[in-house]
Amino acid sequence: MERAELTKAGSLKGEITPPPDKSISHRAVMLASIAEGKSIVRNFLRAEDPMSTMNAFRSMGIEIEKKAGNELIINGKGLHGLKEPFEVINCGNSGTTVRLISGILSGNPFFSVLTGDDSLKQRPMARVINPLKEMGAGISARNGDKYLPMAIKGRRLKAIDYKMPVASAQVKSCLILAGLYADGTTTITELQKSRDHTERMLKSMGADIEIDSLVIKVKGCSGKKELNPIDVTVPSDFSSAAFFIAAALIIPNSEISIKNVGINPTRTGLLDVLKKMGADIEIENIRDVSGEPVADIHCKTAGNLKAVKISGDIMPSLIDEFPILCVLATQAEGVTEIRGAEELRVKESDRIKAMASELKKIGVELEEYPDGISIKGKASMKGDIVESYHDHRIAMSLAIAALAAQGTTTINNSSCVDISFPEFFEELKKLTR
Ligand code: S3P
Repeated sequence: MERAELTKAGSLKGEITPPPDKSISHRAVMLASIAEGKSIVRNFLRAEDPMSTMNAFRSMGIEIEKKAGNELIINGKGLHGLKEPFEVINCGNSGTTVRLISGILSGNPFFSVLTGDDSLKQRPMARVINPLKEMGAGISARNGDKYLPMAIKGRRLKAIDYKMPVASAQVKSCLILAGLYADGTTTITELQKSRDHTERMLKSMGADIEIDSLVIKVKGCSGKKELNPIDVTVPSDFSSAAFFIAAALIIPNSEISIKNVGINPTRTGLLDVLKKMGADIEIENIRDVSGEPVADIHCKTAGNLKAVKISGDIMPSLIDEFPILCVLATQAEGVTEIRGAEELRVKESDRIKAMASELKKIGVELEEYPDGISIKGKASMKGDIVESYHDHRIAMSLAIAALAAQGTTTINNSSCVDISFPEFFEELKKLTR
């Protein structure tokens, strides 16, 4: 579906289990591939991004068997069991695939080339290339080692002590993975706390990894020790759940239950912001699933959401929720200001620019800043033709805005939702009255 048409919704009712977590699906395939022995990944996300990761490891000789019910059996070949890929590895639209794999490939003694789609080829790669080079990796990339395609000649790495200049789970994870192949202990200091799925999973596999707030220490296990295989069940993705949380809050007379959602605190900054905005959201049935906290989320229409100001350390924990937070802000009383969000300029699209220009088209008053946006609520929105910028989260956020706008909204290039949530429009329709 290249174009989606949505009209104003009466209410949202019912229950939904969002698709499996994208970040955890990527990591499960990567870590199982470099573990020694057979791993089981249950509830793997069958969407384009994690498929890019799966295809990459298949091209390096890893056997991955697909079973019913989104289960994967992965025959890991150990830290040094990957084969040189015959072809260029195409990471598609996936920043997580390319940035995390570059850490693994840097420690493997063969040649590989990584590339991606037009969006990924414009996203910054120096943030992983520079520290990997410091560790001794042989890497060259386009335009002065800044952009894909990137060529890697892996070798034995040395541990470094690295203070990250950007808050990024992808960079952190890349260096943790490279650290597994280094002589000595690699120390990484985060700028702000970002998602910690890599650390949790590696710990469960027996890796020598220590976390002390912003400092992560990982001991190289090359030649000494292998990672144990895993049996993980992936929870639903909080970032996919966020669209439904927002819809239930801003569409009158709504009440929905969102099942089996990962609520890792490094991912749920949106819930803290929503609390401040006055939303009453219940988190029920909290449990542990494969080392990650999981719960059901119950939410209903919030009559009078209040505007908020956010910036600083909370940003990484809601980084992917910026577009949907912009939509929520349109329906909150007052001016919401989001600052310190410059990373949003280098996501799958420039998400600040994308949300600013498309929300303006449907009647929202706002101001764009280099590092964020301010949005005036409550806006009375009117449907129009809007662009997804081929960015899954922009398309889904605009779809929720469309449910609150008068008339019909057409979203161009809407099939990009396949990156993380292929059934998004069908699921939304099921809940909409
Ligand atoms: C991700 C980390 C975040 C996030 C992306 C997925 C991950 O990117 O925006 O969608 O799986 O590690 P950065 O780490 O670059 O902020």
